[in-house]
Amino acid sequence: MKISNSGNLLFIGFMGVGKSTLAKELAKECGSVCLDTDKIIENMESKKIKKIFESKGEEYFRELEQKVAFWLEKNVRNSIISTGGGFIAVKNLKKIGKIIYLKSSFEGIIKRLENSPKAKEKLAKRPLLQDKKKAKELFKKRSDIYEKLADIIINIEKYKNEKDIIKELVKYH
Ligand code: S3P
Repeated sequence: MKISNSGNLLFIGFMGVGKSTLAKELAKECGSVCLDTDKIIENMESKKIKKIFESKGEEYFRELEQKVAFWLEKNVRNSIISTGGGFIAVKNLKKIGKIIYLKSSFEGIIKRLENSPKAKEKLAKRPLLQDKKKAKELFKKRSDIYEKLADIIINIEKYKNEKDIIKELVKYH
């Protein structure tokens, strides 16, 4: 599989691991531009992800992810991109940019979400996190795929705080 030389950094990882937050912080730190595939899709549809799942279904959402993936590959350079947890299913992921997998245990992710000041909101907006048992199954199924696709793996549980993660991420920009 061809690894992209687009200059993009692409964050992958399970829901709630902190991809969007870290991508935004890293972009700020590096004076770069940050894109978020979920936000792009919400703009395309003028609807929140939750509503897209409710009205059009998951398959439709996955088609939009693929459309965005082709667009990113063709048009976006030197940017920091955060993706939805299932974006890894797109055909051209490796062609979009260097892939950074933000890794954490499932328990670590749940703790991170529950400790967030916006915990309720963060849980409510994620249709595939509503049933914890199913979410854990999905986590198990996806973990190997994330590892295989990653160019770089950052185990976020090894770091004291967000600032230290950013310090590490800056090295890859
Ligand atoms: C999904 C993750 C979500 C969002 C959608 C589906 C998934 O993004 O794309 O709810 O399949 O894992 P986050 O990873 O930002 O929660």
